[in-house]
Amino acid sequence: MVNFDSFEPEFRKRLEQCYDEIKWLYAELYGNDQQAFEYFVFMLHEYYAARKESLKELDRKREADPRWYSGNDMLGMQMYVNCFGETLNGVSKHLNYIKQCGANYLHLMPLLQTTEGKSDGGYAVSDFRKIDPKLGTMEDLSALSDRCHSMGISICLDFVMNHTSEDHEWARRAKAGEKEYQDRYLFFDNWNIPNDLEKTVPQVFPQTAPGNFSWCEEAHKVVMTTFYPYQWDLNYHNPTVFNDMTANMLNLCNHGVDIIRLDATPYIWKTLGTNCRNLPQVHTLVRIMHMACDVVCPGTLLLGEVVMEPSKVVPYFGTVDRPECQMLYNVTTMASTWHTVATGDVRLMKHQLAGVFALPKQYTFLNYLRCHDDIGWGLDYDFLKQFGIVEAEHKKFLNDTLSGKIYGTDGRGELYNDDPRLKDARLCGTTASLCGIEAGEYELTDWKVDRGIRLDLMLHAFLLTQSGIPIIYSGDEIGQLNDYSYHTDPLKWDDSRFLHRGAFDWKAAVNRKKPETREGRIYAGIQKLVKLRKAFDVFNSEADTWLVEAYNDHILGIGRFYKGQKMIALFNFSDSDETAWINESERYYDMMTGEERNASAVSLTSYGFAWLISSFKDDESKPKKLTQIYKVKTAANDVKASKKTASKAKTSKKKTVKKTTRK
Ligand code: GLC
Repeated sequence: MVNFDSFEPEFRKRLEQCYDEIKWLYAELYGNDQQAFEYFVFMLHEYYAARKESLKELDRKREADPRWYSGNDMLGMQMYVNCFGETLNGVSKHLNYIKQCGANYLHLMPLLQTTEGKSDGGYAVSDFRKIDPKLGTMEDLSALSDRCHSMGISICLDFVMNHTSEDHEWARRAKAGEKEYQDRYLFFDNWNIPNDLEKTVPQVFPQTAPGNFSWCEEAHKVVMTTFYPYQWDLNYHNPTVFNDMTANMLNLCNHGVDIIRLDATPYIWKTLGTNCRNLPQVHTLVRIMHMACDVVCPGTLLLGEVVMEPSKVVPYFGTVDRPECQMLYNVTTMASTWHTVATGDVRLMKHQLAGVFALPKQYTFLNYLRCHDDIGWGLDYDFLKQFGIVEAEHKKFLNDTLSGKIYGTDGRGELYNDDPRLKDARLCGTTASLCGIEAGEYELTDWKVDRGIRLDLMLHAFLLTQSGIPIIYSGDEIGQLNDYSYHTDPLKWDDSRFLHRGAFDWKAAVNRKKPETREGRIYAGIQKLVKLRKAFDVFNSEADTWLVEAYNDHILGIGRFYKGQKMIALFNFSDSDETAWINESERYYDMMTGEERNASAVSLTSYGFAWLISSFKDDESKPKKLTQIYKVKTAANDVKASKKTASKAKTSKKKTVKKTTRK
C-alpha cells in the first residue's frame, strides 16, 4: 500500500488527483504487479523531492496558467547543438541571436551520449543520464535552461523512448547473456516470431536499414530493431522498462527541460499480428507519462512525434479531461504544403485545413515547413483520387519536381530512402533550396532568386498564419542552402537527411543586416511577419478560423477572427500573377504596408501573399497596433514631409525676398 502521509502536501495533492487513474491504467498494462506500481509511485516522489525550487516555482506559475504555451507570442526554433553553437555553452552564448529572431522556444536536437557512427543523429542513446561529452555536461544543460528561463525561453528536448543504442548498459548486459536485461528488449531464440511479425509490420528505413529485426551474434538471438540495427527496441511489456524510462524522462525535466518530445511515440508497444503502430497500449503509456509530469513537474509539456495520417495523430491529444500530449506536429499540413508548392493547386490544402480548423482549439499543433527529418508524402490520396491522382506516380512527380528533375523546375531536394519496390521515396532539402533560391544563385539568374525568395516568404507567412506554435528550423531564417558536405563524410554519406542539417553559417548570418543579400531579404521578411504575429491578437490560437473561397485554385484563403479583429490571408501558390475573387465588405489594411486596401478582387503577384486586417474595435479605423507598428515610418515620413515643406517654404521665402529686393 502506498502511504500518502509521508508526502509533502503539494506532491500529495497532485498525486491524489490522479492516483486512481494511474493505478487503474498501470494495472491494465501490468496486471497486479503491486511491487512495480509502488516502485513507480515512490520514484515519482523521488523526482519531485529532487526538483529544484526555481523549477517548482515555474511549475506553480504554469499550473495557474495551464495554457501558457498557446499564445501568439510563441515562436520555436529547432537546431542541433553542434551545428549552432558547437556546445551547450556555445548555444548559451548565442541566446541573444535567438531572442533577436523572436524565438522563445528552443528545440535542441538529441544531445545525450551516443556512439559515433552509430548514432542516427543522436537518436541512438547509450546513456540517458549523460550528455554527449563533445557537447557538454548535465550541469551545462541545467545552466543553459536557467539562462533560457531568465530570458523567457523554453527548452524542448527529445526523449528517445522506443529504443536504446546497442551500446547502452542494458544492451551490453543483454549481449553478455543476462536474462534480466534481455527481458528489457524484444529478444527471440529464432526467426519464427520475427518472420511472422515481418508479415504485418512495415519498414521505417527500407533502404538504409531494411527489416525490423537483427541478429545479435553475442547473445545468439534475434532482437527487434525497428529503426537502425544498432537501435534496439525496448520492451514496454516489462514494467521495469517503463519505470526506469519514466525516471529517465523525469531526470531531463529536473534539468530544466520544459517540453519533452516523445520520439517515435506510435512505435512503443508491439503485438504479434498487428502493424505495431499506435496500439491502444501506447495511449495508455503516454497518458500515464502525462500524469507523471502532472505530479512531479506540471510545468512540463509532452510533444508527441506522431508522423502518421491525421486520423492516427489527433487521438494522441487524448480527451480534454484525460489529455495525453499537449502538442503534436502538424505533419500532414507540412507535407500538403510541399504538394501545393509542386502542383500550384490548393484544393488538397483546403481539404486538409478544413479538417484542422474543425478540431477543438485546445489542441495545439506545432507547425513547420520542414524539420531535421525528410518530408514523407503522407497525403490524403483518397481525396486526390477524384483528380485522377495515383499515389505512387504522384510521389514520383513530387520528388521529381522538388528535386529539379523536371525541365523548368528549380527545387534542389534529394531523395531519401528511395525504395523502388514500394515507390515510396521521401525528400530532403532546406526550405530555401527547395524554393529554388539555390538554383537561381547558381545560375546567376536574379529573377529566379527573386521568385524563390517570394515563395520562401509566402510559405513562412502561411506558416505563421496557422494557429499553434510555428517552428523555424535554424538557418531557414536566413535562407540557408543545402549542405552537400555529407556526401563525402564516411559517417553520414548514406543518410540524405544530413543535406538539410548543415552547420549554421555564422558568417552568412552577418548579412542578415544587409538588405540586398539573400540572408537580409529573407531575415527581414520573416522578422516582419513574426513581429506582426506577436502584435495582433487575431493570431491567437483561440481565434476562429475558416477557409476563404478565392474562386481560384491557385490561391489559398484563410480567415481568422478574434476579439474584434478579422483577418483575411491570401496565398498565391502559382508562378503567375493571380486574383483572389473575394469580396469582403469591411475596411481592410494591408498588414505588410500599413496602407488601406480593398478586400475585393485582390491581385497577388506570383508566389505573393496578402495579410489583410480589419478592426471592429476602433470604429472601423486603422487597427491601433498597425498604427503603432508603422508609427515610426509615418513619423519619419512626417519629418521628411515637414522638412520638405520647410525647405520649400524657405526657398519660396528666399524667392519672395529676392523678388522683393529686386523690386
Ligand atoms: C524519429 C526522429 C528521427 C529518428 C527516428 C528514430 O523519427 O525524428 O530522426 O531517425 O525517430 O529514433
